[in-house]
Amino acid sequence: MTVTVVVGAQFGDEAKGKITDYLAADARYVVRTGGGPNAGHSIHLAEGSVVLHQLACGVLRHGVTGVSGPGMVIDPFRLEEEIRELEGKHLLKGTILLSERAHVLLPIHQIEDAWEEEVRSAASPKGGVGTTRTGIGPAYADRAGRWGIRMADLARPAILSERLDLLYASKGHLKGLPPKDELQTRLVEVGGRLAPMIRATEPLLWEAIANGENVILEGAQSALLDVDFGTYPYVTSSHPTSAGALMGSGIPPQELDEVLGVTKAYCTRVGAGPFPTEVGGEVGEYLQREGHERGATTGRLRQVGWLDLVLLRYVAKLNGFTSLAVTKVDVLGGFDEVPVAVQYVTPHGDTLTDYPPAIAEDLAGVQPVYQKFPGWPKFNERLKERLRTDGAHALPSTLRRFLAFVAQETQVPVEYVSFGADRDDTLWLGRGAPARSAGADLPAWSG
Ligand code: IMP
Repeated sequence: MTVTVVVGAQFGDEAKGKITDYLAADARYVVRTGGGPNAGHSIHLAEGSVVLHQLACGVLRHGVTGVSGPGMVIDPFRLEEEIRELEGKHLLKGTILLSERAHVLLPIHQIEDAWEEEVRSAASPKGGVGTTRTGIGPAYADRAGRWGIRMADLARPAILSERLDLLYASKGHLKGLPPKDELQTRLVEVGGRLAPMIRATEPLLWEAIANGENVILEGAQSALLDVDFGTYPYVTSSHPTSAGALMGSGIPPQELDEVLGVTKAYCTRVGAGPFPTEVGGEVGEYLQREGHERGATTGRLRQVGWLDLVLLRYVAKLNGFTSLAVTKVDVLGGFDEVPVAVQYVTPHGDTLTDYPPAIAEDLAGVQPVYQKFPGWPKFNERLKERLRTDGAHALPSTLRRFLAFVAQETQVPVEYVSFGADRDDTLWLGRGAPARSAGADLPAWSG
C-alpha cells in the first residue's frame, strides 16, 4: 500500500521501464508522469519484446491500469500506433487510461522541433540540443505559453477549432504546416477513437491510494535531463524528478512513500551536453556493443562512460531517493577493474563531490577523479541461473563490494540489481542487503 516513484538517476535509458514493470506485478496503477514520444521503455517478456513510448508499462499486466498522466505531452497518432502494435503482439493485458489534462503533441510541434534545432545549430556549432525531434520542447513551450491543446479538447470541435486558430496564429515563423482544417479533422477523428480512454485520472488515483492500493509513478527521461536541475540547456523540457512526478500525476506530496532511483552500473548519454566520465576507444565501443547502447526511440548510438558518483549523490539528494536499483551490472562483467568517478577537480583546482556546476560548459571542463574496483566475472547463463534461484547469495563478492560502495557514497540502500534484459533478471536485495552481506568491514549507509 505504497506510492512509489521510479526516477532515472542519470541521463536516461537506465532501464526504468524494466524496473517499473517488475514492480508493477503488485500495483493497481502505473502512471507515466511526463514526457511523450521521446521516451522508449524497452520491456522483454517471454511472449515478446516491446518498446513503450507513451503508455505506462502497467498496461502489460492483467489487472493493472496504465495511466498516461496529466504531465505528459501525448502524440495521439503515434499513441494509436503503439496501442495497435501491442494488440498485434497480444501484449496488451491491462487497461489504458489517458489524462484529459495531458497536452496534445501535434505534427506542428515536430516541425517546430526540427526548425529550432536547425536555428540553434546554425547560430553556434554547439547550439543543438540533440533532441529526439519528436516535438517535446515546442509542445511544453505551448503548454507554458497557454497556446496548448489538451486531450479533453479533442471531444469539443468548437473549442478545438478556436484553440487551433490561436495556435496557428502563433506559428507564423514555421513553413510546411498541415492545413488547419485537415489537422482539425484528423484530431477530431483520433479523439473519437481514443475517447473511451480519456478521463479525469487524478480522482481515480486518489481513490486507489485511499483504498490502500499500490500506485507506481513511472518517470520518463531522467533527473539530469530536468529542465531546471539538469545540464541546461542540454535537457528535455519536463521535470523528470520525484517532485515532477507528483505534479505530473496530481498526487499530493504527503502520499509519496518511496523514491526509487534507477542507475546503470556505468553511464550513458544520448544527444548533446556535458558527460564528464565519457569513455571512447575500444572500451567505449565494447560497452556500446555489450550494453546494446542504442536509443530505443531514435536508434542513435549512446555515448558511454563510467559511473559518476558526483552526479549520483546530487540526484539522490535532489529527489530524496529512498532506494536504488543498479542495472546492467552484467555488461561490466569480465573487466579487471571498474572505475567509478568519486569527485571532480575544476580547472581552478577546486574539488566537487556532490553538486555539479550550473553551467554546462563548466561541467564539461571538470576532471573526474576515479577510484578503481576489482571487477567481477562475466555473466554466463550459469551465474544468471544461480542468481535467479539463490538470489543475493550468488552475487560475486567483488560486485557486492561495488554495490556497497555505491550505497555508502550516496547514503541510499541498493534494493534492486538488474543483470539482464528479461523480466526474471532482477534481484530484490531487501533494504540494506548488499552492505550487510558484503561483510562487516564495509560501512553501512544511514537511514
Ligand atoms: P527532447 O526530450 O526530445 O527534447 O530531447 C532533449 C534531450 O533529452 C536530448 O539530449 C535527448 O537525447 C534527451 N532525451 C529525451 N528523451 C530521452 C530518453 O528517453 N532517453 C535518453 N535521452 C533522452
